[in-house]
Amino acid sequence: MSTLKNIHSSVLSCKKCRLSEGRINAVPGEGNPNADIMFIGEGPGKSEDEKGVPFVGAAGKFLDELLAEIGLKRSDVFITNVVKCRPPENRDPQDDEIAMCWPYLEEQVRQIKPKLIVTLGRHAMNRFLPNLKISEAHGQAKRFKGVGTDKQVYFPMYHPAVALYNGSYRELLKEDMRKIPKLLSMIESV
Ligand code: URA
Ligand code: SF4
Repeated sequence: MSTLKNIHSSVLSCKKCRLSEGRINAVPGEGNPNADIMFIGEGPGKSEDEKGVPFVGAAGKFLDELLAEIGLKRSDVFITNVVKCRPPENRDPQDDEIAMCWPYLEEQVRQIKPKLIVTLGRHAMNRFLPNLKISEAHGQAKRFKGVGTDKQVYFPMYHPAVALYNGSYRELLKEDMRKIPKLLSMIESV
């Protein structure tokens, strides 16, 4: 039986794809094992690779700010990525790397059973919701058969890193974030 701890240790020693070659640390993810909300980013960056913890660099600081916007701390939610090892020079993760890493994420979702999966950025969104465009899909919940047999509720958001390069995304991300509490209470009531 695989538990979150087993997944964590498998990730730490994983060499299934080429991303294992350049990493300092694999980054399995962290947070509340009973979280209602899972946040899924793209892949570790430099700081995450150094520390082995997701979203601890500049984008992570902004994610903390976004969480605070709805009264949440990192320890209330579960945070992870579609690939658990840093792509060199922060390039996009490639399809085969995402595919090799997918069983870990799938198992994390099965174990945590979140009420809501928030995807951060295009790569995370498209892994669960193929063919959607982030500019159209962000900030809108989608019920979709994803992991497991039941339909799951997804909420795509822009990646918090876009706010670092383009200030107008800051408000957009905050606006989308503020929709989450109501969405969660609607999910809980059905
Ligand atoms: N960007 C991501 O997508 N994930 C991280 O963990 C950090 C930055
Ligand atoms: Fe394994 Fe995923 Fe790291 Fe590739 S990215 S080595 S599949 S943990």
